[in-house]
Amino acid sequence: MAEHNARKLRGFISVADYRADELLDLLDRATHLKRLHHMGESRQSLRGKTLAMYFEKPSLRTHVTFEAGISQLGGHAILLRPEQVGIGTRETPQDVARALSRWVHCIMARTFSHSLVEQLAWEADIPVINGLTDFLHPCQAMADLLTIREKMDPQQSTLAYVGDGNNVAHSLVLLAAVLGFRMQLATPSTHAILPRIRQQADELAKTSGAVITWSEDPRDAVKGANFVYTDTWTSMGQEDESVLRRKIFAPYQVNSALLENCPEAWVMHCMPAHRGEEITDEVVDGPRSLVYDQAENRLHAQKAILEHLMD
Ligand code: NVA
Repeated sequence: MAEHNARKLRGFISVADYRADELLDLLDRATHLKRLHHMGESRQSLRGKTLAMYFEKPSLRTHVTFEAGISQLGGHAILLRPEQVGIGTRETPQDVARALSRWVHCIMARTFSHSLVEQLAWEADIPVINGLTDFLHPCQAMADLLTIREKMDPQQSTLAYVGDGNNVAHSLVLLAAVLGFRMQLATPSTHAILPRIRQQADELAKTSGAVITWSEDPRDAVKGANFVYTDTWTSMGQEDESVLRRKIFAPYQVNSALLENCPEAWVMHCMPAHRGEEITDEVVDGPRSLVYDQAENRLHAQKAILEHLMD
């Protein structure tokens, strides 16, 4: 794993903290766990281990797949709500991280601020997993990578991302940059990838050979793509901007007309999908959609991450 401090080394905060070979090892582990799951078998690799799950934002997939995942590996999860814990009001992030480190074996946190997850990781003596922040969504990116690899060699693939330059887009572009695959983005200039992510991705791409293209035109982005990815135009916490965002992003809808530019491409979405906004019904429910594979693969990818960090 790349640089950083000794504590962070054992967490999963950003895909860019890992090398390509480490990410591919995690995928191999996830594929094996998926096979066991489908055979109705499990291994008790995390027997007696406890995961604390802290959610500041709503969740279906992350909550269920982490809780089911650790149970299937013999451990168990505890759900913590911000109003019970009171980080920043009742006690400091440091005290929460240090106390949890004495009781449980791993923390998974979904927060608004990315720096809170980093702070928890810095202070805890146990691994901390980023379950989504306003800035990154690395567990989703790993499930997406597993989904892509089930169709073709990710390092030979071209991934198009159309829409908001948000947390999901950030983690995907970092993944492309670490692994060295081609990614073609189309975002409005007002909602592009953050400059510091673009800079980090461009830097990593120098070593991996990744080709990343940045445009405002969705038709340009999807040309030649094997996978076309989109996400909500209004992420959690941005609800007040939803009317304006619907206007800005209208030309970025992933629909049948856009997909005529890439007749072979699979379609991806991390969900929740806002049908009729960033993606149409016929696309989500169509034969090229991988959205439920991605949702399933959250379980397997995260079980691999949990095992890697706690076994
Ligand atoms: N960008 C979305 C992802 C949801 C899984 C959000 O942050 O709400």
